[in-house]
Amino acid sequence: MTRQMIIGMHLGNGYGNLPGAWRASSVDPTSYTSFDAKVRHAQAAERGKLQFLFLPDGPTHVADIANEPPNFNLDVMLTLAAVARETSRIGLIATGSTTFNEPFNLARQFKALDIMSHGRTGWNAVTSSGEDVAANYGRRLPSSSDRYGRAHETVQLVQALWGSWGKDAWVHDKATGRFANAEQVVPINMGGEFVAARGPLHIPPSEQGQPVIFHAGGSPNAIELAGRYASGVIGAAFTIDDAHAQRAAFRTAAERAGRDPDELKFFAGLMTTIAYDRREGLDRRIALSERTFPQRAAYLGHMLGVRLNPARLDEPLSPDQLAKARPSPGDPRSAHALKVVREGWTIRDVLAHGVIDYHPVIVGPAIEAADHMQEWFEADAVDGFWVSPDIYDDGINAFVDGVVPILQDRGLFHRDYNGVTLREHLGAPAQYGTDPRVTQ
Ligand SMILES: Cc1cc2nc3c(=O)[nH]c(=O)nc-3n(C[C@H](O)[C@H](O)[C@H](O)COP(=O)(O)O)c2cc1C
Repeated sequence: MTRQMIIGMHLGNGYGNLPGAWRASSVDPTSYTSFDAKVRHAQAAERGKLQFLFLPDGPTHVADIANEPPNFNLDVMLTLAAVARETSRIGLIATGSTTFNEPFNLARQFKALDIMSHGRTGWNAVTSSGEDVAANYGRRLPSSSDRYGRAHETVQLVQALWGSWGKDAWVHDKATGRFANAEQVVPINMGGEFVAARGPLHIPPSEQGQPVIFHAGGSPNAIELAGRYASGVIGAAFTIDDAHAQRAAFRTAAERAGRDPDELKFFAGLMTTIAYDRREGLDRRIALSERTFPQRAAYLGHMLGVRLNPARLDEPLSPDQLAKARPSPGDPRSAHALKVVREGWTIRDVLAHGVIDYHPVIVGPAIEAADHMQEWFEADAVDGFWVSPDIYDDGINAFVDGVVPILQDRGLFHRDYNGVTLREHLGAPAQYGTDPRVTQ
């Protein structure tokens, strides 16, 4: 069978990736606290046969709470518990910090969610960054080596706890009165420099055995961690070449750890404003994010090495500015920004293209998103994408009804789920407990 891409959907604060999505005419401004809204968005993604939902998590303070909602979800595990009960196929991946959680808590919550979702759970194991996050736990951010040292121990301990209830231990035989085989539910008594747990964990296997590990991050330590344990990487890349290099680095790290590199899938981020045409999409984005443009204009100037006047957003760059503009080597988005600038758009329209966003942004008809995805996928730069729509309420449907059928018609995306578990959706091998290839 030909290789097909895997697609996930970002599920964040209930509104979408535009800072003003909460003010869109069709959006209930209280969606931030609505579990019904999150369930509705998850069901829309499942209708499109997407393989997973990805929930990032900080949690950090919001810089501009006066104007913008928090980036994060009220609580990723409670949200996915609600979603698990109202969906049946889509994978559910939540971020959980290895720095600010005890392994036993992580093991328990993620495996309970895996039971509840019938084997659809993934754990995005990240080390967390930022002193503002650390401060919420009354801590300073540990050094990278301490964070990743704790991360290695934590992932291994969590997986050991998951495996501590033997696969066939639960007999629940009413006739004999035997509930479980006690000799198969045993303490792990593991500890290292940073964390320890006795166990066992009191949770039997799920339909996929245990949750799947994900990772997000691009530092050498992050690549090493993902290479050992992860089945998927939630990535960020602005060009095909960058994605290709990142994917290759993760695959090499998996090989170094004694694994088959195909076990580790790399997903690049993609932000979407699917609209009838470019103009309609730009106007939709301007209406909901223009407040940020004066500040962003200054940064755009920095990216291009020219001074831009935030008071004159409705003008394109002058011929003199265009002649002087050079992409900044310090920002990988600069070359694309320069390309858009040279097309002659006003500064406001250039910013509305999302040239300073966290991921490549598609503004326009569905076919443009499909073309982008096909190009990256066929260049072996990605195994798939995680998509972040501008406004969840209509943006997920626009992706599902516009982009998905094009990819299906091109043979690039499945028409239906083959399996039920996240492991099946990813083609990830069976695993119960730790992976002996990487823990010895
Ligand atoms: C696409 C992407 C998504 C990420 N999502 C999260 C997240 O949800 N929560 C979090 O604490 N960190 C997240 N991170 C940050 C990384 O986990 C990591 O802390 C950061 O890249 C710093 O890397 P380093 O500590 O290895 O230097 C994400 C990173 C990337 C590239």
